[in-house]
Amino acid sequence: MRRAVCPGSFDPVTRGHLDIIGRAAALFDEVVVAVGVNASKRRLFEPEERLAMLEQACAEWDNVRVDGFTGLLTDYCAENDVVAIVKGLRGPGDFEYELPMAHMNVSLTGVETVFVPTSPQWSFVSSSLIKEVASFGGDVSPFVPGFVLERLTARVEERRAGGA
Ligand code: PNS
Repeated sequence: MRRAVCPGSFDPVTRGHLDIIGRAAALFDEVVVAVGVNASKRRLFEPEERLAMLEQACAEWDNVRVDGFTGLLTDYCAENDVVAIVKGLRGPGDFEYELPMAHMNVSLTGVETVFVPTSPQWSFVSSSLIKEVASFGGDVSPFVPGFVLERLTARVEERRAGGA
């Protein structure tokens, strides 16, 4: 049984994430989508909300499950018999950002990183851009599942009403 993780913040999950998760599910026996819940960054969605959206979005794959983690990703991998970390690469910027982390992670516990090129149609999609565009009322419907769009629109409205 070869288990991989797709780690990330998923604030919120996008169709770009789902492209990588689905392709990882075809490569490995089991894929755990591991949601980093470290409190350092301010997020639009709480960890429970991000997990719930991912669970719904990943329901179509029998060998994909969702989990949260705190602390080092390598510790999570060691504790859960994970042999590979799967990361999507949208372009050279992602590679520059990810390569040192891949080196660090393999040097910490030997866990390998597998890079999967993001499908071109999602190559410009990121959670942060989705949030920015949505916050100004732009149409992000092509880039997230419908139920994510609903939650995103509602959260943006709440923040606007609350002055945040
Ligand atoms: O979607 P993101 O924000 O790029 O996800 C980043 C995440 C959660 C994958 C990354 O920050 C992470 O692995 N955090 C866990 C802490 C850790 O292991 N840091 C050392 C990396 S070499």
